[in-house]
Amino acid sequence: MFASFLQDPDFIRVCYIVAFVLFIVGLGRLTGPRTAVSGNRIAAVGMAIAVIATLLDQRMGSNWVLIVAAVVVGTAVAVPAARNVKMTAMPQMVALFNGVGGGAIALISWGEFRHSDGFADVELYIVIAALLAAIIGSVSFWGSNIAFAKLQELIDGKPIALPGQQVINIALLGVCVGLSVAIATGTTSEWAFVGILIAAALLGTFVVLPIGGADMPVVISLLNAFTGLSAAAAGIALDNVALIVGGMIVGASGSILTNLMAQAMNRSIPSIVAGGFGGATAIAAGDDGVDRTVRSTSASDAAVQMAYASQVMIVPGYGMAVAQAQHAVRELTLELEKRGVEVMFAVHPVAGRMPGHMNVLLAEADVPYDQLKEMDDANPQFARTDVSLIIGANDVTNPAANDDPSSPIYGMPILEVDRSRSVIVLKRSMSSGFAGIDNPLFYADGTSMLFGDAKGSVQEITSELSEL
Ligand code: TAP
Repeated sequence: MFASFLQDPDFIRVCYIVAFVLFIVGLGRLTGPRTAVSGNRIAAVGMAIAVIATLLDQRMGSNWVLIVAAVVVGTAVAVPAARNVKMTAMPQMVALFNGVGGGAIALISWGEFRHSDGFADVELYIVIAALLAAIIGSVSFWGSNIAFAKLQELIDGKPIALPGQQVINIALLGVCVGLSVAIATGTTSEWAFVGILIAAALLGTFVVLPIGGADMPVVISLLNAFTGLSAAAAGIALDNVALIVGGMIVGASGSILTNLMAQAMNRSIPSIVAGGFGGATAIAAGDDGVDRTVRSTSASDAAVQMAYASQVMIVPGYGMAVAQAQHAVRELTLELEKRGVEVMFAVHPVAGRMPGHMNVLLAEADVPYDQLKEMDDANPQFARTDVSLIIGANDVTNPAANDDPSSPIYGMPILEVDRSRSVIVLKRSMSSGFAGIDNPLFYADGTSMLFGDAKGSVQEITSELSEL
């Protein structure tokens, strides 16, 4: 009696609705650092309910040994991987998880093809949905694997393209469409279906290979949106509301995130997908023949400068993540505050290598949220800032984005640190950042450079401050 209630399709539908509500509430809470952790937990509970409801569905069959084995293997691989991943490796982790989702959808579609004898006697809209799921899922799986391999440096992060790449890609898309039309019009050959999966696999690989490693976070977000769409298409094919709604949520949020990242970098999504950016050889200072000198400073001078400031703005960037300097930075802010200095953090939306990268690190180090200023709130503050302390940030402070129409980042909104009274830059060398371009800020009159690993430099400044 109780078992049949649990397996009642209406009960399962109610469980799915509860799961969607939890997904949406969870997603809404991910928009702010204060609520993000609970948002993640709420969405995870929603996912657990959706999984249990799916297992209750009578259409699942009774292959419990296989199902339990898959759950055990998946948990054994994913839990330690997610627990142990370094924050700087998070983009490739997301790529891998996303790829697995796309691959699963492509396999489900293949399973349905076999199960229904090559879609014989299946309604056309279901066939179309299943074929779309197979194509997009396969593109997403292979594209995500290449993104993972580039970010993990298993293959070269530089753009890799075959001659006539665009023509090859269009031909592969043509093969996918042609074989899909053949299946939709009655072909039941499994080879046609496998042909679609192979052509889509090559397409996913060839689309991502020419994209520079540093553009990968945007590409991963785009592939994430693709996986969502393929899941929604599979949901139509399987008549599974959970997949349709869940897939559309992933598709929509992935698309919005991709767009926000592209806007914050002042790049168009087509130009990112066309590739070739971020893999360029860095332009070293002085390569353009202009004589530039930089003023280097010491930790003790930097400490004195900040000790007598009334407002210090800290600008974190990718280098802070590489150096894992966030806890040392927190110690520095406490030391400054002891001396009555007002400290704020200016956080650029694409500082680091993934959305919210700086917020996550600073939250880990217990930096109070009200000290974090988003770009639009931080920029008006710089005119009354005595010292801007740049910790491993580069492109997000580059004034060329405002002043130099020939710069590749011209038009990208930046943190206008050059408006503050003085700037201290912590980095190891004069190397460029992600965009591979020189930063005129480093040669400006009010700027001094403190060379070294960001964590060590911050610790030295703090120890000098405490002795003042
Ligand atoms: P970047 O411009 O990449 O500069 C980081 C700087 O950190 C480098 O110049 C490097 O100089 C320094 N650095 C590296 N390791 C260091 C260490 N251990 N100690 C001290 N300094 C270190 O970083 P950013 O200003 O954060 O800008 C982010 C860039 O990534 C933007 O161009 C953005 O468009 C791009 N991007 C961001 C995202 C997202 S979503 N955040 C996604 C894709 C692309 P040295 O080598 O001389 O030390």
